[in-house]
Amino acid sequence: MSDKISIVILAAGKGTRLKMDIPKPLVKLEKHSLVDYVINASKNIGDICLVTGHQKQLVEQHIEDKFKDLNISFVHQQEQLGTGHAVQTYIEQFSDFKSYKYTIVACADTPLLEEIVFKELIEKMTRENLDAVATTFKTENPFGYGRIVRSEVGGLSIVEQKDTSDEQRLINEVNAGLYIFKTDYLAQMISSLDNDNNSGEFYLTDTFKEGANVKALMFEDKNYFLGINDLYQLSVATRKYMGRNIKNLSVDGVRFLDVSHTYCFSKKIGQGTLIYPNAHIDSASIIGRDVIIEPGCFIENSTIEDGAHIKANSYITDSIVRKKAKIGPMVQLRPGSDIGEGAKLGNFVEIKKSIVRENASVSHLSYIGDADIGKDVNIGCGFITCNYDGANKHKTVIGEGSFIGSDCQMIAPINIGKKAYIGSGSTINKNVPDGAFAIARERQVTKEGMAKKFIKIKDKK
Ligand code: UD1
Ligand code: CA
Repeated sequence: MSDKISIVILAAGKGTRLKMDIPKPLVKLEKHSLVDYVINASKNIGDICLVTGHQKQLVEQHIEDKFKDLNISFVHQQEQLGTGHAVQTYIEQFSDFKSYKYTIVACADTPLLEEIVFKELIEKMTRENLDAVATTFKTENPFGYGRIVRSEVGGLSIVEQKDTSDEQRLINEVNAGLYIFKTDYLAQMISSLDNDNNSGEFYLTDTFKEGANVKALMFEDKNYFLGINDLYQLSVATRKYMGRNIKNLSVDGVRFLDVSHTYCFSKKIGQGTLIYPNAHIDSASIIGRDVIIEPGCFIENSTIEDGAHIKANSYITDSIVRKKAKIGPMVQLRPGSDIGEGAKLGNFVEIKKSIVRENASVSHLSYIGDADIGKDVNIGCGFITCNYDGANKHKTVIGEGSFIGSDCQMIAPINIGKKAYIGSGSTINKNVPDGAFAIARERQVTKEGMAKKFIKIKDKK
């Protein structure tokens, strides 16, 4: 037998207290389901098997879609008769279980688990040649947890809340719900479990008994084991998760002006970057080095390259902002926007599915959709691409080095050549060749002395 490890993740529970329609393992912490975090923390440790129950099709489909390459197995626990019964189900249905020397049991609802916890468990197990190790932590409020009852001779047992004596209830070292077993030991113990207790459930914790060759490994950081049973706990776990991420980033050289008011899930942020409060950065975004992200920015599934400056209250989704570009304040980049190196977008500029090339400048109040704005193009205030005819979207192309005066509209599809010049206030609906000047507005008429005919306000003496 090799030293292969099987990871059994218990995910049959309903999660009634979350008051959501989806099964608990699929409830999201930020963009990922709770079970995803446990899988990611354990996928390098061994082969994963999920015990599913409530809405198992949904859970299995999700895992198959998201973790195709991991080859995760499933067993189905039809009725939830306890954690011991869940593992019994695994042993009955997963015929290969014996080929793993060790079996780890984890819960699907502890998203803050990390690989290091598994490693330490395995290390303790093998170093001391034990039959099983349970993880534990100390808490001021142990209510609801299994208590770790340690005896003077070094043995231990786990007593569930409902079965504790008055004295045992005072114990503040509790079972975290993550274990490693020698598979032989687990199989032998599991078949002898009963439900003769105050819950009428088969407890996995009954495999920890005084006199057995089992130990507990206590962790200082109880956050690893934060379980999600209701939306308040989800909110607490989300906060802790971000806190941990922000701490790691800070240690790596990212500066947060106020760590407690920044919402950052991205793990890819370069050194020297400064992030102001109330920025929201999702886990799919990548931020380069020496970037500045000012207050109130929302950045989702986007890349911000080195030296870019995102000014206050900008909203960026599915886009890329290249090196040293300056965006905002109050810019919206809608999906598919690509802002070139050194380009500049000023206040109230909305970009959709467009390329704004190197050093181009769109400084004030504009809408650019389905466009390709050339290198060094300068666009004045109040520019609009009329890209939609009510049925279809059309493209606007503006060539390198062109100058577009203020208050122009481009009725797409339209092509403006290189180094062209468009006069202010023009509505352009015909292509303009390279180097041409185009203007499309009424000529001005001025009539001396005629203003009084229109001025209705009485002269104030
Ligand atoms: C369990 C432990 C307790 C520990 C606590 C840590 C037992 C008997 N008790 O209690 O000592 O302190 O976790 O959080 O194990 N599940 C199934 N099938 C079942 C029952 C449960 O898949 O038949 C799953 C649940 O979905 C959940 C996990 O197992 O993910 C834990 O079950 P739960 O009922 O929440 O156990 P606790 O009472 O919290
Ligand atoms: Ca629980």
